[in-house]
Amino acid sequence: MNTKTQVGIIGAGPAGLLLSHLLHLEGIDSVVLETRSRKYVEERVRAGVLEQGTVDLLCETGLGDRLRREGLVHRGIELRFDGRGHRIALSDLTGGRAIWIYGQKQVVKDLNKARLAAGATIHFEVNDVRLSGIDATSPVINYRKDDQEHILTCDFIAGCDGFHGVSRDSIPSGILRTYQHDYPFGWLGILAAVAPSTEELIYASHDRGFALHSLRSPEISRLYIQVDPDEDINEWPDDRIWQELSIRLATRDGWTLADGPILEKGITSLRSFVVEPMQYGRLFLAGDAAHIVPATGAKGLNLAVHDVRILAESLTAWFRTGATELLEQYSTRCLRRVWRVQDFSSFMSLMLHRFPDGDGFRSRLQRAQLEYVCSSEAAARSLAENYVGLPHV
Ligand code: FAD
Ligand code: DHB
Repeated sequence: MNTKTQVGIIGAGPAGLLLSHLLHLEGIDSVVLETRSRKYVEERVRAGVLEQGTVDLLCETGLGDRLRREGLVHRGIELRFDGRGHRIALSDLTGGRAIWIYGQKQVVKDLNKARLAAGATIHFEVNDVRLSGIDATSPVINYRKDDQEHILTCDFIAGCDGFHGVSRDSIPSGILRTYQHDYPFGWLGILAAVAPSTEELIYASHDRGFALHSLRSPEISRLYIQVDPDEDINEWPDDRIWQELSIRLATRDGWTLADGPILEKGITSLRSFVVEPMQYGRLFLAGDAAHIVPATGAKGLNLAVHDVRILAESLTAWFRTGATELLEQYSTRCLRRVWRVQDFSSFMSLMLHRFPDGDGFRSRLQRAQLEYVCSSEAAARSLAENYVGLPHV
């Protein structure tokens, strides 16, 4: 089967689906190819924190109905250490900006619904995706679906297929420069059917390791504890997880953590990863396909949204007028934000986690940083403006 489209999009995560939506609003046709099922991509438990700029873009482009109804606006976060909580007043420190709690799976559901209602072509459960001709004017994607070979000819290809996708590796060797840093920490994350024990997110630094209390709704909590990156999840029965969380989140004033049935649990490691440039010929990488940030800053999804906003704008200029300037600047414009966010996410990660080597010097520096951001308005403002997200440029 031979078909054609203007933009072939690989991956139906937030990056691929939002790009398809933004292009559609500009009258540009795309086809999305996804290896997993629709159910799988809509049920995957991942990010939960949306920056103000992400929310604004979703609302401005017609995706805000359920988000406005069900999303929870948060105007502060708590940093907890030494058994005491310290509030960072995000909105007061940033001229009224805020973050929203709205799960990535809800964002993906809203996007799928909007795209399919508009008659979009999204092929789920494809396999054997291969790219060719990316340095020519009509790049091609070959893939298989239902045991049939398909050939999709495009004007451009967007590689939105996450960290483990095929797009990045389709760029000839010697073109990309890779920057990578692995942190000696993993996160064990749980989703639990219990009302959150807090109104705002709590980032806790404890001698036994970092812990984070987040949420998804008034009935569902999302919590994380620092573990070794190669920790075996089978070593963590539910009781042990709750016990460790309550130790790390404990306060001197008797605050208690409510527990409940664990619906989902998994371990991820923390890493920084960037490829430069994010483009080659007619292939443009966006989101996790081009960069990974450590989770402590809650930024991965938000960075993916920024990339595709820039990509949609650049492709629109080309399809309207043939102008190549914005396409040429795509990587440079995205990478400026990517590195700012790498720095912020690394700062948060290094400040809050316990290092396995138990280095006393480092832990004293961590304490000095925590005390500084909790006592200096200038330091708190810097954390706050990064956390709510710097304006999109
Ligand atoms: P993905 O969501 O990975 O989507 C890529 C898609 O491509 C997938 O659906 C995949 O199945 C598909 N694919 C892969 N290979 C192929 C192929 N060969 N052909 C076709 N399709 C393919 N970010 C935040 O902003 N805030 C948070 O609070 C936050 N918390 C997180 C918590 C956890 C536990 C994890 C794991 C991540 C978190 N993130 C967070 C990061 C965020 O989830 C990612 O950055 C985000 O999913 C990136 O979106 P994406 O579309 O680029 O990639
Ligand atoms: C969540 C994830 C994060 O990485 C973070 O920093 C804050 C919250 C969450 O899943 O809710």
